[in-house]
Amino acid sequence: MPSADATFPAGFVWGAATAAYQIEGAHNEGGRGPSIWDTFSHTPGKVANGDTGDVACDHYHRVPEDIALMRELGLGAYRFSIAWPRIFPSGSGRPNPAGIDFYKRLVEALRTAGIEPYVTLFHWDLPQMLQDAGGWTNRDTVGRFGEYARAVAAALSDDVHHWTTHNEPWVFSVLGNLMGLHAPGKHDLAATVQTAHHLLLSHAEAMEAIRAETATGDQVGITLNLAPVEPAGDSNADAEAADRMDTFLNRWFLDPLFRGSYPDTLLRMLGDAAPPVQTNDMARIAAPIDFLGVNYYFRSVVRHDPSVPTTQATMVTPPGRPTTAMGWEVYPEGLYQVLMRVHQDYAPAMLYVTENGAAFDDRLIDGRVVDPERQAYLHDHLLQALRAIEAGAPLRGYFAWSLLDNFEWSFGYSKRFGLIHVDYATQERTIKESGRWYAGVTRENGVRG
Ligand code: FCB
Repeated sequence: MPSADATFPAGFVWGAATAAYQIEGAHNEGGRGPSIWDTFSHTPGKVANGDTGDVACDHYHRVPEDIALMRELGLGAYRFSIAWPRIFPSGSGRPNPAGIDFYKRLVEALRTAGIEPYVTLFHWDLPQMLQDAGGWTNRDTVGRFGEYARAVAAALSDDVHHWTTHNEPWVFSVLGNLMGLHAPGKHDLAATVQTAHHLLLSHAEAMEAIRAETATGDQVGITLNLAPVEPAGDSNADAEAADRMDTFLNRWFLDPLFRGSYPDTLLRMLGDAAPPVQTNDMARIAAPIDFLGVNYYFRSVVRHDPSVPTTQATMVTPPGRPTTAMGWEVYPEGLYQVLMRVHQDYAPAMLYVTENGAAFDDRLIDGRVVDPERQAYLHDHLLQALRAIEAGAPLRGYFAWSLLDNFEWSFGYSKRFGLIHVDYATQERTIKESGRWYAGVTRENGVRG
């Protein structure tokens, strides 16, 4: 077998990632209750083309086929999320046996296929009935999340040994509660700050529940969206705006998790909207995690902008730089920078890249999707990941976003991130050329060229 030019350490975990609402469909089957994303996507004007996750990739009915595709890609691991409203359709009470059963069958089938399940508990689909009681602004939701984590861990602990409490709590808090772009669709700074604090606290609560239900040696962590932040210009004002944005985007969650406190600069920026911290909260939030998951897509380049009240900073796309179909700059070195930054400033025991990937305007022609830009994106980011490993970052695995084209939140089905193309009319799956290339990476444990 030819060996790769850039070889990763033995045992490096090669995976791909998805999330429940983005792929499962079957929104009203198996006793599933409604989530805030059902409500949001069914609200006219919220999602491009009026798309919803009602059917999505119909993964709920296609688990065997999708696992066969994972095998073709040579995945050693699969990161997916559990739909909370399948387990607790109304947010509390007794776990729904049909929901538990679906995930039990999924993780058993993954194990049989030799694929390690990496489970995320919350990838944004809060049961609607909990939202009706205030959602994440209500401290009681923290307790409900703990019950949910305990029920899932108790049911799946034989087959699952890697647990992630939350996916991108910053995106959930800010896009959902401040910018109104995601469910629950609010424009409310106080609600955003309460949500962020309760997500952090519920991470602690869930971690305690998982540890109580699982064997020693199982790994529990959290996934954050992180990015290097750079000033757009040379002015002091831009440099200060970049500092504020770094605090807002990165340190808001990193500091509580690793240092047990919110940055003073963040508290000053939030003004009256102070986090609702109670005794012991911060100590619990800072309990050691086994790994930090890093989702990286693009860097943040920011300019001073007094019209943005909270951060006084606004993001710009640097002119002349390559971008993806999302308009996001392609900046592979940023992956090296974020990994090194968290390693040096926060020293997590282990790191995984839990998401990295790109949307392009793929076309299925004569049964093939030729997508050299995605392949180049992945290639260049993997070399930066390896560079971070060589510089000492304890990076243990990489999960491409995404296994399949799927429901890209407010963009609906208009943005394709998959290694595998999905024809939504027929549900036919086609491995893209980049997916074939990634199969070579997983096989050779590295990147050639
Ligand atoms: C991340 C999300 C993931 C997907 C990618 C493109 O913010 O975690 O669900 O939408 O972006």
